[in-house]
Amino acid sequence: MRFKDKIIWITGASSGLGEAMAKGFNAEGAKVILSSRNRDALIRVQENFINKQVPSIVLPFDVQQYNDAEVIVKEALNCFGKIDVLINNAGISQRSLSIDTPFKDELKLIEIDLIGTLALTKAVLPEIIKQKGQIVVISSVMGKVNTKYRTAYAAAKHGLVGYFESLRLELEGEGVNVCNIMPGFIATNITINAIGSTAEIAKNSQNNLGLSAEAFATKALSAIYKRKGNVYIGGIKEKIGMLLKRLSPALFDKFIKNKKVT
Ligand SMILES: NC(=O)c1ccc[n+]([C@@H]2O[C@H](COP(=O)([O-])OP(=O)(O)OC[C@H]3O[C@@H](n4cnc5c(N)ncnc54)[C@H](OP(=O)(O)O)[C@@H]3O)[C@@H](O)[C@H]2O)c1
Repeated sequence: MRFKDKIIWITGASSGLGEAMAKGFNAEGAKVILSSRNRDALIRVQENFINKQVPSIVLPFDVQQYNDAEVIVKEALNCFGKIDVLINNAGISQRSLSIDTPFKDELKLIEIDLIGTLALTKAVLPEIIKQKGQIVVISSVMGKVNTKYRTAYAAAKHGLVGYFESLRLELEGEGVNVCNIMPGFIATNITINAIGSTAEIAKNSQNNLGLSAEAFATKALSAIYKRKGNVYIGGIKEKIGMLLKRLSPALFDKFIKNKKVT
């Protein structure tokens, strides 16, 4: 019961990593606020919680509607009277070359993955400072490296890493933890939901070979409990890629150029 009575708000809680983390937090005694666009899917997640005596609330929100961030934060605060942890997890990915991707689709991705996340974080920040709580962001290995088929996604995730690493420095004296979790390939619906994806791409996706969402959630909850800073969760290939990129960006480009990344 590491999170007993903590109030934890998770975006993108209807599927994949968000769903697995929501279930994990509920099992550990947290009062979870579940957000995403799809109310029915959130209710399905909530109905599958094992700790039914611990209250939880479904609060639908589309993070692309970032002008409404202040309004939804007020609603989230009304759920249980405070917020200890915001988990910025909502996001979509990309499986298309830049030349084939309409600008409106790249903009949509950046609005969901980056702008909406920043807006929500800024709106909830005074409350998190008050509680000496935590801001968690589920960014990606793609916040540190680059591959083909991910131009807008890499832009959004690099943006998240830069923003949250800077925010961590600003909040150091406030007792607030900023935890940046960078997943590698994890088996979720991310590929089928990605911009430019197809059923064929999803069927043969590298994600299918990755960690399960549940294994990811176990590691993520430990990192959040320990109030870690930057955390990588995934397979060895992606970890080596991150190291190589740091040591020699030119060598990394040569290495990644012809690798299968869809
Ligand atoms: N799986 C991986 O390999 C991997 C690797 C690196 C990073 N990540 C990151 O992990 C996060 C979760 O991805 P996942 O793998 O769990 O994918 P997923 O199964 O497709 O789940 C994505 C979640 O985001 C929500 N979402 C999408 N657009 C939204 C919007 N406009 N407003 C609010 N919620 C929205 C979806 O819910 P609704 O459709 O109900 O809105 C869903 O709950 C993403 O940020 C992703 O970039 C995943």
